Amino acid sequence: MNGLFISFEGIDGAGKSTHIAALAQAFEAQGRAVTLTREPGGTPLAETLRNLVLHEPMDALTESLLVFAARRDHIQRVIAPALAQGRVVVCDRFTDATFAYQGGGRDFDWEVLRMLERWVQARQEPQSPGLPELLQPDLTLWFDLPAAVAAQRLVGARVPDKFESQPGAFFEKVSAAYGLRCAQSPARFARIDAQSSPQTVWRDVLAAVRSKGLLA
Ligand code: TYD
Repeated sequence: MNGLFISFEGIDGAGKSTHIAALAQAFEAQGRAVTLTREPGGTPLAETLRNLVLHEPMDALTESLLVFAARRDHIQRVIAPALAQGRVVVCDRFTDATFAYQGGGRDFDWEVLRMLERWVQARQEPQSPGLPELLQPDLTLWFDLPAAVAAQRLVGARVPDKFESQPGAFFEKVSAAYGLRCAQSPARFARIDAQSSPQTVWRDVLAAVRSKGLLA
């Protein structure tokens, strides 16, 4: 069976978490082995880098280098081996988050990010015909909702990290950058209206995964 790579994206407060766990269970219920993971993170080294990125002040290039370093380790140790074993990899955030947060939120140079993406996501295995040159998710579920609504949801929820404590204007730029990434890869993205009720969001998540033929 072919491995399957699904990423979840959206601004902080978009409500991805419960649906990520539910989708992993839906695959398991159909007999698939699932690797549930997150970025930045997913390996001991990448979790260490996550801690720095989320809590230490640094400029946007440093942030970008650290999240891509974490991603490299994550791909090599977890994602690529899992896909090679035919597992379903469900990942809370991937490279679109770097374009959205560093590229959009922090106004960082997209050309540099594209270069890092090419270096970090270049496939290691022998090229087989039809396989895209870069490792990318097969499907990206983008939880889209207005920045103001997300901010309301986060009020009092927990102690905010470096990104969660950014002002509304930051998240509007993050949101717009997700929109741009979605427009650049429409076949890979499914936009989910995250303002709907949890039941409706879950129905839309399942519909998106099924319409791709990824889940029976
Ligand atoms: P998040 O995924 O929201 O986890 P939690 O639910 O535990 O808060 O937190 C990760 C944060 O890191 C989020 O604010 C987005 C940010 N981030 C980047 O800035 N760049 C990236 O490339 C990634 C993957 C995440």
